[in-house]
Amino acid sequence: MNAFYYRRNELYAESVLVSRLAERYGTPLYVYSRRHIQAQYRALAGAMAEVRPLICYSVKANTNAAVIRTLAAEGAGADVVSGGELFRALRAGVPVSKIVFAGVGKTGEEIEYGLRRGILFFTVESEPEIRRIAACAERLGRTARIAARVNPDVDPATHAHITTGEKENKFGVALQDVRGLCRLAARLPGIEIAGIHMHIGSQILSAAPFAEALRRTRELCAELKRAYPSFRYLDIGGGIGIDYRPGQKPLLPETYARQVAPALKKLGISVVLEPGRFLVGNAGLLVCRVQHVKHSPHKTFIVVDAAMNDLIRPLLYEAYHEVLAVRRGRRAIRADLVGPICESGDFLALDRDLPAAREGDLLAMRSAGAYGFAMASTYNSRPLAAEVMVDGRKSFLVRRRQTWRDLVRDEVIGN
Ligand SMILES: Cc1ncc(COP(=O)(O)O)c(C=O)c1O
Repeated sequence: MNAFYYRRNELYAESVLVSRLAERYGTPLYVYSRRHIQAQYRALAGAMAEVRPLICYSVKANTNAAVIRTLAAEGAGADVVSGGELFRALRAGVPVSKIVFAGVGKTGEEIEYGLRRGILFFTVESEPEIRRIAACAERLGRTARIAARVNPDVDPATHAHITTGEKENKFGVALQDVRGLCRLAARLPGIEIAGIHMHIGSQILSAAPFAEALRRTRELCAELKRAYPSFRYLDIGGGIGIDYRPGQKPLLPETYARQVAPALKKLGISVVLEPGRFLVGNAGLLVCRVQHVKHSPHKTFIVVDAAMNDLIRPLLYEAYHEVLAVRRGRRAIRADLVGPICESGDFLALDRDLPAAREGDLLAMRSAGAYGFAMASTYNSRPLAAEVMVDGRKSFLVRRRQTWRDLVRDEVIGN
């Protein structure tokens, strides 16, 4: 489903004019399509139906409560990586029995929170971590279900900063060390071995690396299932890639399912998926207003009111976001799209053919629903943008714009 489209040269979000949203809620503005999120969830659940996976939305991609709630209403669980994300997932209505907790450095406080609430399982990434979880469980008189995170050492052919399943990465334990970790886990009090977990990277556009990771781990999985009666889950993480560029081929859920579902079915195990970007990436736009156009002898700069603090992906990952004119019709010019922050890295698009926008025009960055607002900061004391959800003809504010006062609310002037 494409939630954002043109009719008579005006950009729409579902049935709502994007220009209306900008007028009503101001800019910079994140706009999300509820129907797109629902359609993505249903497409993945449908494609993987033969293994009936538990789809745990990876909350880090977009932490807005309305987004999490939309997915929870579809039946999704949550993949969280901090106490804060666990808090958000519970607050938004995700059942605790569908929450998995990953991350290489969980604190004692976070482990205790997860244990007290009774999450489905913690993924564990090292021996010290499993000992810490066991000590916490024993102290609380609880049982911690754990899934050992395997690093299968496959190349997901994506950007180096979002590769997580190669041997150089900090994540998981090597395949040959998983049995030892499970033996240790079995000896520790308060630990139940619930399964294994992997997540090989993000924005993966081919199903082959997923199939390869499964091929490398399936024997281990079968062996652990025989060895530990409590072993029930294989969590194959997230990572399904989407289209950012016009014409780019996304990894379709059917293609993904064709490569992974048969092997999963053969294992006869409960399957967990942790998609983030796939569910919300193309459900979001970042709408901004042109402040002015600056010509230098070498270049043209379109200066907008959104900046790297609102969307850091172009700088952090050299990510490409398509730039749309909210009202189409101007010719294209070669330019950089930049924000007002005092950094040369403050760009949203570099050396691109962009709409020849003028002061006051509205532009929209496509594919901004994942790792957009979630990575935003208030650098240069820029208040966080507002977020709005569209559902058919309706739109509603799902996060109000920060004020200057919000910026200093938690500060203490001391002596
Ligand atoms: C453990 C884990 N699961 C799931 C995800 C979600 O990845 P994606 O948004 O690519 O689906 C991530 C992303 O970093 C992750 O670290």
